Amino acid sequence: MRLAVFISGTGRSLQNLIECSETTHKETFEIACVASDNIFAPGLQYARTARIDNFVAFEGLTPERRDDLLLQFAFTHHMVDYICLAGYIKKLSIPPEHQYKVINIHPSLIPKFCGQGMYGSKVHQCVIKEKEQESGCTVHFCDNEYDHGPIILQKKLIIDSSWDYQNLATEVFKLEKEAYPEALTILKTGEQ
Ligand code: GRF
Repeated sequence: MRLAVFISGTGRSLQNLIECSETTHKETFEIACVASDNIFAPGLQYARTARIDNFVAFEGLTPERRDDLLLQFAFTHHMVDYICLAGYIKKLSIPPEHQYKVINIHPSLIPKFCGQGMYGSKVHQCVIKEKEQESGCTVHFCDNEYDHGPIILQKKLIIDSSWDYQNLATEVFKLEKEAYPEALTILKTGEQ
């Protein structure tokens, strides 16, 4: 299965997916290309180090032009099976022909704590503030709403009452590292 990974920031999920594609999930997927909306995304270093073709859609493009270039780079140029959003924070408009071809991972149990502006540590801060008993992560197909679309996989954890939002972020990211490759395996094999 050929994948494009889209990032905006530190690229921890990209790093994890590259590692999995070279080791535990060698038979399941390969990262064909990486794209970003941010030329300064530190995560681009992982693509460069692994010699994965990468592309940046420069600021100043209209959202339509940006999405068009990104989708062409992945689906037309690299002929990927799926685009994996991995900390990509812009909204990507998905045309009908690519429905069920774009996947996202979100660090909460969707439909809780998601939507526009709800990303990164904000998610975990809200979960702690609301005194939730559990949290986790969700891998889902993307539709044209933020953090929305059919769920492929969720992983849950019980929140320890002594945790602050940083502890929670650390624990949820451990789950995310398992969840993304597992969800991709489900897509490849069609099994759950
Ligand atoms: C992850 O928490 C993921 O759930 C979310 O973005 C984070 C990864 O971004 N969508 P990064 O790899 O730290 O840039």
